[in-house]
Amino acid sequence: MTNLFLIYHDFYVGALMSPKINILPDTLINKIAAGEVVERPASVVKELVENSIDAKATEVFVDIINAGRGLIRVSDNGEGMSRDDALTAFEKHATSKINKEADLFNITTLGFRGEALPSIASISRIRLITRSADTAGALIEMEEGKVKKASETGAAAGTVIEVSDLFYNTPARLKFLKSDNTEMSHITAVINQQAIANPHIHFRLTNNKKELLNLPAILPLTLPSPLYHRIYQIYGEDFMNNMLSISGKEDSINIYGFVSKPSFTRAERNHIDIFLNKRYIKNNVITRAVYDAYSTLIPKDRRPLTLLFIDIQPSIVDVNVHPTKREVRFVNQTIVYEAVKKALKEGLLPSHRRADIPPVSYMVASPDADYGKQSGYAIEGARVMGQGSQGMAHGAAELSNQPIQLSQLTGHSVIPLGQIDNTYIAADAGGELWIIDQHAAYERLLYESLTQSYNSHAVQVQALLIPEEVSLSTAESIMIKDYIDVLMNIGIEIEEFGRDAYIIRSVPFLLGAGSAKQMLLDIIDGLTGLQKGVMKSEVVDKVIMLIACHGSVRANHGLTYKEMAALIDDLINLNIYETCPHGRPIIIKFSKTDLEKMFKRR
Ligand SMILES: Nc1ncnc2c1ncn2[C@@H]1O[C@H](COP(=O)(O)OP(=O)(O)OP(=O)(O)O)[C@@H](O)[C@H]1O
Ligand SMILES: [Mg+2]
Repeated sequence: MTNLFLIYHDFYVGALMSPKINILPDTLINKIAAGEVVERPASVVKELVENSIDAKATEVFVDIINAGRGLIRVSDNGEGMSRDDALTAFEKHATSKINKEADLFNITTLGFRGEALPSIASISRIRLITRSADTAGALIEMEEGKVKKASETGAAAGTVIEVSDLFYNTPARLKFLKSDNTEMSHITAVINQQAIANPHIHFRLTNNKKELLNLPAILPLTLPSPLYHRIYQIYGEDFMNNMLSISGKEDSINIYGFVSKPSFTRAERNHIDIFLNKRYIKNNVITRAVYDAYSTLIPKDRRPLTLLFIDIQPSIVDVNVHPTKREVRFVNQTIVYEAVKKALKEGLLPSHRRADIPPVSYMVASPDADYGKQSGYAIEGARVMGQGSQGMAHGAAELSNQPIQLSQLTGHSVIPLGQIDNTYIAADAGGELWIIDQHAAYERLLYESLTQSYNSHAVQVQALLIPEEVSLSTAESIMIKDYIDVLMNIGIEIEEFGRDAYIIRSVPFLLGAGSAKQMLLDIIDGLTGLQKGVMKSEVVDKVIMLIACHGSVRANHGLTYKEMAALIDDLINLNIYETCPHGRPIIIKFSKTDLEKMFKRR
């Protein structure tokens, strides 16, 4: 009893005496900060390149080994640091960019938190060589956030920083990294963003010594619009031809940049690139303003692309709301919303002609004689991939204006009555009134047909008479390499064709008309959003959904009687016609009783 009492007594007194709250050591604080700031190799690249830009470099070269798992080296010709400054730079909260509270509301540099270098140093090994104009060069090596070596060295003016073995002491983070191609595409995207914001800087990117990007400086002295030329450098002529230049000024907000013509849209993913005071950010208010400006110009399920610059007084925006500084908060977000929407609406107005919107891609899978003519593709001929049975294609050719026999279901005839608003088909189904959403219906049909033919290895492909060339961004080009085989099995044959360019040689036969190129871009968008480790079947399903959506007839498209009849016939034969692949209903039915009730006959 006494013993027990003593034990309890010791325990309670001990608990009271020893403090529960500790001040964490700096090394741990830095690791915690790294958790927020450094998600993947691309985050390191972003921080280092931002430092080079803040140091007024005009050359920023990024060399990567093994997609950033091995080495990330950023070399610049900027201001450099003295040996003492370089040592201080690795201390937490060490920055040369602000020093009093008021500065926080007048930020004109990309960095200001003084946490990037100590964070990165806490989860990697670092070697830094730097020289400022009036000092000797310094070499510093860091490990576990601590200085291992600091000496003088001969060096060119500027800074070279090498980050190796990233995440070596945080294995959980390593596990989250995706394939080399994915990591490289993130890194490439970071460089592209910085390059667009800074046309006067020469950027270069290599991975395993292979050059991925080389973007020489665009000097305002030689070219009238450095921004235009920088974007051209990155995305090419084709892209620029589809973009409109916009500009607008509202109070102290200056808006400019390039936005896509209403005819040039993507299916998914956010392509609203926003640069606020040259900082690449994500912002819901601005994104909404962009979508709202386009709302009447493009179909609901399409997304515009923008490279939108907003220059604003630093005092009316707070950039200190997110550790990676990807988000900002405006003092008055309504003003920003209105200004952006107005600038875009004005920029889009003169170009908003019907002709800008491409002819709707209408398809009924039908290998009839006129097919090549009516479709947007030039078709060389169909062939079947894999062994296999007949393709799913069947179509309007055999159909006459006769009502269709609704054989399996009710034995009644379904007679198309006409189209409503070029969007819905009304049909008399043996006394029932059907209203069919033509887009949802075509989408479902295409989806089912493609899935069935894929599963039975009998995808019919149509070779394009004139293969379509697509130039991709380097990030997209790296990403799509992982999927070439999957696409091939679905009927989309693509082949690398020079740097970041691909040739589309074939598309699934069922796809009637439209741009193969646009379809590939939509697929790339869709695949970019996929999580790591998704099953192959999910990838296939996603691609088929995207193709189906792309190939299906859009709303606002007139159909002939024959086409309506063919669609209804296909729906009935397919037997699954409740919803489109996105879950929207395809047919809404009013029974005789429904109609009678509505007309108060019952
Ligand atoms: N490439 C470089 N050239 C010259 N000075 C640099 C370079 N990289 C870092 N520095 C100096 O080191 C300091 C610390 O860099 P660090 O990235 O950790 O902080 P920061 O850029 O000030 O703020 P943030 O954490 O927001 O990036 C910088 O303020 C700058 O003075
Ligand atoms: Mg920084």
